[in-house]
Amino acid sequence: MKVDTQTLVRPARNIRGSVELPGDKSISHRYAMLAGIAEGPSRLENYSTGADCASTLGCMRALGVTWERKTEGQNVIEIQGRGLALATPAMQLDCGNSGSTMRMLSGIVSGQHFTSEMMGDESLSRRPMERVIKPLTQMGAQIESDQGKPPLRITGGSLKPIDYQIPVASAQVKSCVLFAGLFADGESRIGEPLRTRDHGEVDLRAFGVKLDRKSLGAGSEVRIRGGQRLHGVETRIPGDISSAAFFLCAAALFPGSQLTIPNLLMNPTRARLLDILMQMGLHLSVTQLDEINGELVGSLQIEGGGLKGATLAGADSAALIDEIPVLAAIAPFTEQGIAVRDAKELRIKESDRIKSVVTNLRAMGAEVEEREDGLKIPGRQTLQGAELDSYSDHRIAMAFAVAALRAEGETQIAGAESAAISYPAFFETLEMLAAT
Ligand code: S3P
Repeated sequence: MKVDTQTLVRPARNIRGSVELPGDKSISHRYAMLAGIAEGPSRLENYSTGADCASTLGCMRALGVTWERKTEGQNVIEIQGRGLALATPAMQLDCGNSGSTMRMLSGIVSGQHFTSEMMGDESLSRRPMERVIKPLTQMGAQIESDQGKPPLRITGGSLKPIDYQIPVASAQVKSCVLFAGLFADGESRIGEPLRTRDHGEVDLRAFGVKLDRKSLGAGSEVRIRGGQRLHGVETRIPGDISSAAFFLCAAALFPGSQLTIPNLLMNPTRARLLDILMQMGLHLSVTQLDEINGELVGSLQIEGGGLKGATLAGADSAALIDEIPVLAAIAPFTEQGIAVRDAKELRIKESDRIKSVVTNLRAMGAEVEEREDGLKIPGRQTLQGAELDSYSDHRIAMAFAVAALRAEGETQIAGAESAAISYPAFFETLEMLAAT
């Protein structure tokens, strides 16, 4: 499985071994941003190796934050915080493929007394930004965009607090408004309709910020007071559970699989996949549960077995938004199939993930029903190896490498190198774990 523009994946017998994942992407982004506006140094061990988190570091450097990558052994980033005031960038802030970088960092640059311009690659340039433009403008930032799409030209300054109910379930928007709330003159209140990943809240606390949180029905509410100073942290970032998802689903495909993943993120707002896989009949156990700066981490063991079906809707679809592509890719091999509803956000990710999944599954000969907000895939199907496309989307490349393990014959994935957006070592690691 050489990572090239065309990557070949052969059928496997099972998945066996132990793998430790690079640091979680969502946490790495937030730590890099918060360390930049903290006072004093931070040391982040096991920082994400993905290109997206490198984009965040690049933007922080352009905003005057100094940092260094220590390459011995672990992927360690040492960041010298500047405090809340960043430096006027001499260049555009290049967010690459990363929606997280653009959406969350826009909250921080909105609190700065200068103008900055954020841009991204072709895929990011198609993604909606009005979801952050609206609350940030309400707080007093001046934002120009291309009809709600990047590039964004943001003139920041002192902000007004906001009382904002986020209309869509989006952790990026929640973190963006929370970060902007640090620069507001008073207390902001941010509500979300469904509980999404809470790294913004947990990680702000790790940097010494006080905030109040409460659950409200299926959603939550956070209050944050502006003007709080952040202090640097020394921490180790837990392994990325959304990257682990590909190996967990690969292991799930074969009764003989045995996989161990130490130091994996177990934050309850991210671990819904583990419940779903257990409900589908997988044997899974967690040991050595620990807490590092508010984030749960544990060691996971999984054995392959029979896979029942699942229906994902409502809060589950929001909680599993990054894992749905790989669950859909293994759905034909389950007993009853998988149905997904309430997931139309998938259409505006790095690719239209509903369409990408449907097209690739059909190319492998699967029966699939496409819906506006999801898809329905019957179980007990046999798939053929095929020529597939990643659609320049890291999670599509990795999801179909997993499906290809159970197909009859070889599969070629075009543009599989896009896996490097979140997990550059994915194909090497899969090759190491897959017994053929
Ligand atoms: C993320 C939130 C999700 C997710 C993305 C990372 C985050 O996006 O899909 O990969 O770190 O907050 P949305 O906020 O658009 O749902």
